[in-house]
Amino acid sequence: MLFRSMRLSDTPCVIDLLRQVGNQDFIPPSRFWFLIRLLLPTFYIFVLEDETGLVVATTFLNRLPNPKYGWRGYIDYVVVEKSCRRRGFGRQVMTGVLTEAERLGCREVLLTTSHSNAQALYESLGFKAKPSSVLMRRAS
Ligand SMILES: CC(C)(COP(=O)(O)OP(=O)(O)OC[C@H]1O[C@@H](n2cnc3c(N)ncnc32)[C@H](O)[C@@H]1OP(=O)(O)O)[C@@H](O)C(=O)NCCC(=O)NCCS
Repeated sequence: MLFRSMRLSDTPCVIDLLRQVGNQDFIPPSRFWFLIRLLLPTFYIFVLEDETGLVVATTFLNRLPNPKYGWRGYIDYVVVEKSCRRRGFGRQVMTGVLTEAERLGCREVLLTTSHSNAQALYESLGFKAKPSSVLMRRAS
């Protein structure tokens, strides 16, 4: 298995994976969206590639400057291809992104989840639920 940065040519595979998160209101980002994001110095998209070159998982990492931690990482969209789940790929992609976050100077990493399967994975990697609520506002 190879954990690596996303390339623009991975766009269709990554979009397929994002569809599998199951959000009803998902609108696939364009290739241009990925192009711009991949140029940002604080935003990273990683993929996990199998021995045949197939992309089987992805995740996003944002890092923002934080006065206490230097950089704080935000992980988003941890997704494993449906037919490949329960084979340890979720754990591999998480281990990979946490190693990268640390290498990039993030002394704290946050994520949110409402999926109990994913929560078990995150807790097994040392994440602890914070006693605070996430408040969200969407533009109408
Ligand atoms: C959550 C997800 C990434 C896990 O990927 P995966 O490759 O199946 O996970 P792994 O095989 O590496 O399993 C790691 C751990 O996750 C937990 N887990 C994964 N699937 C589970 C399931 N169906 N039931 C219970 N626990 C599960 C277990 O704790 C497991 O550890 P264990 O194998 O030692 O029991 C995958 O199910 C997925 O892509 N789901 C849809 C997208 C999603 O919900 N992402 C999270 C959004 S925050």
